[in-house]
Amino acid sequence: SDPDSLQDFCVANLNSSTSVNGFPCKPNAEVTSHDFFFDGLSKEGNTTNVFGSKVTPGNVLSFPGLNTLGISMNRVDFAPGGLNPPHSHPRATESGIVIEGKLLVGFISTNNVYYSKVLSAGQMFVIPKGLVHFQLNVGEGKALTFTAFNSHLPGAAVVPLALFASTPAIPNGVLTKAFQVEDDVINAIKSKFGS
Ligand code: GLV
Ligand code: MN
Repeated sequence: SDPDSLQDFCVANLNSSTSVNGFPCKPNAEVTSHDFFFDGLSKEGNTTNVFGSKVTPGNVLSFPGLNTLGISMNRVDFAPGGLNPPHSHPRATESGIVIEGKLLVGFISTNNVYYSKVLSAGQMFVIPKGLVHFQLNVGEGKALTFTAFNSHLPGAAVVPLALFASTPAIPNGVLTKAFQVEDDVINAIKSKFGS
């Protein structure tokens, strides 16, 4: 859902600060084949973290050739039991294909209806723009999915981190009221994320 380009391509000059929409183009004379190919999604991500999953982004920041073209992809690796935690992409619809393992893929509409399915290799899913979604590895071994977005920088608001690991922290009074629990529950959750 990024705006249409007004030229064939505009390889990002990442040293320049962002303008309103994307990065300034590096001069055409300096553009080579190298700018249109990206190896970053070929390597397995390190899933040793609290969630047991790792998103490796192929967006404009890692692959500057995507600048202004309105698309990007991620690789998501999962340890057994790993979770890509509930998150939303403010600037893109997501589609994905499972390559390995068994993933429970779910999203929640703005009416709080939960849509989900367990997918295995070759099966595809879609997450409508902006909706909160997750993937959970429900298989015996590792799992792997590749996802695609209609933005060169979809952004990701990760719900548990946004609420419990922001800088500065959200006041406990907001979270105790929002979740209808006592202070100690909020402190316990915050401590899991190192804040
Ligand atoms: C998966 O949800 C991803 O954002 O890559
Ligand atoms: Mn996502």
